[in-house]
Amino acid sequence: MSFQTIESPFTETEIEIEAERLLSRLMHVECDSRRTWNIDECRKIAPLTLEINQLKKDKGAVILAHSYVEPEIIYGVADHMGDSYSLSLKAKQANAEKIVFAGVVFMAETAKILSPDAEVLAPDRNSGCSLADSLSGQQLRELKASYPDAGVVCYINSTAEVKAECDVCVTSSNVYKIVAAMPQKQILFVPDRLMADNIRVEMKKLGIDKEIVSSDGTCIVHDQFDPNLIAESREKFPGLKVVSHPECTMDITGLSDYVGSTGGMMQYVKQTEAPYFMMLTECGLVERIEVESPDKRFISGCKLCPFMKMNSLEKIRESLIAPRPDQVIELEEGLRLRALGAIERMFEMA
Ligand code: 13P
Ligand code: SF4
Repeated sequence: MSFQTIESPFTETEIEIEAERLLSRLMHVECDSRRTWNIDECRKIAPLTLEINQLKKDKGAVILAHSYVEPEIIYGVADHMGDSYSLSLKAKQANAEKIVFAGVVFMAETAKILSPDAEVLAPDRNSGCSLADSLSGQQLRELKASYPDAGVVCYINSTAEVKAECDVCVTSSNVYKIVAAMPQKQILFVPDRLMADNIRVEMKKLGIDKEIVSSDGTCIVHDQFDPNLIAESREKFPGLKVVSHPECTMDITGLSDYVGSTGGMMQYVKQTEAPYFMMLTECGLVERIEVESPDKRFISGCKLCPFMKMNSLEKIRESLIAPRPDQVIELEEGLRLRALGAIERMFEMA
């Protein structure tokens, strides 16, 4: 049987070896009910992953992929995968001519803030984020005028314009540590209202006196989980460990065994012995653990982020060959430098 297309520059043997490589990782993905990974599916994408990996070499590019993007991107072409904090560090250290950010646009913007000399590419410019898109720089300036004494902290899920207005930026992996260390008692934390609730609870637990005010954004993935599901699932699956992200409601985080960033959740599951886990986060993270720790068992609960899922191998290929203007991230230099100040302060405080 021949599966090599006329246009493919790769031999059947090269494609077969690549398909086997892909299958060895993707065969463990069970959570994704949209697609079953078998050798035929892997043969279909192998010419594309081979081409993208060659393009990366030819063009001096690195591909950074958030854990929530499709597994064929993570295991097919990504150089680094992880949560927003670890990928920001990778962007800072990248020293590459081009950075393709398979994630959402605010993440690609963060990479551009940190690596201004690289051409930073967002495979799909429509891959927004309900949090980042909930607050503009102008709206934040108005809020700041209402809280003139507050320390201004922005979650990394925000636009460059918003970051440029903040004292410090945080990610879910360092938010509590940084808020606790802020000199001001009053903290204006934007744009995630639910994370602000979780910060209040955490500061109280730590005995730290802070007044947290926020704007009104939420993550359309993490604000969806139903606390009743936790109680029902614990009854059905004794020994179940529930893991959630601090973008979830306090009802969910309060009932969870572990709350943390995507990186933190992954580490917790890998290091914890339990018969079952329920991940109240984006399904991409479950898929990553299925591939990297195939002995772990999950019960359903995760949800899909429509923005992360806009990334595809085809769009990555297209952006590497001849990016459309909308795929290239450009930032005005003054704005970039102000946003950089908030991110660098995070690296110092984290
Ligand atoms: P992390 O900081 O945990 O990577 O989260 C980013 C995100 O968008 C979660 O929804
Ligand atoms: Fe934004 Fe939520 Fe998607 Fe993360 S999961 S990118 S916070 S919409």
